Amino acid sequence: MPFLKWDESFDLSIPAIDVRHRLIFLIIEDFLLEYLRGRPKEAIDHILKLLSDYIEEDFQLEERYMDDYLYPGYLPHKEKHVQFIQNLSDLKNKIEGNKSEFVAAFNDIVCGWLKSHILEVDKPLVEFLKPKIN
Ligand SMILES: [Fe+2]
Ligand SMILES: [Fe+2]
Repeated sequence: MPFLKWDESFDLSIPAIDVRHRLIFLIIEDFLLEYLRGRPKEAIDHILKLLSDYIEEDFQLEERYMDDYLYPGYLPHKEKHVQFIQNLSDLKNKIEGNKSEFVAAFNDIVCGWLKSHILEVDKPLVEFLKPKIN
């Protein structure tokens, strides 16, 4: 039932970015497994905190690159990050509600967003950065 499965289309070829994206996918898989297993709230909160930390680290790295290399799409890209962090924090408040509704919302707000963000928003950024930093 993996909601988010890594394949080579997600490899954007800047290792510092790819490695964070891969870790985020792994933590999401772990989170969903543990959540569906009904692990105690502290364990679930701990994984969610790890997930938020890695996601914020990824966003900060990309924003630093955009700033350093004067990426023209900086503002709209950063706005998407800010909006996502808000959506993720709203989602955390729903964790104690209905399980299948939570998983459906998580799948949409986190998994669906990440897939399209990496392929449609991060990818053009990496294309722009590649000749500059490699
Ligand atoms: Fe990213
Ligand atoms: Fe991004």
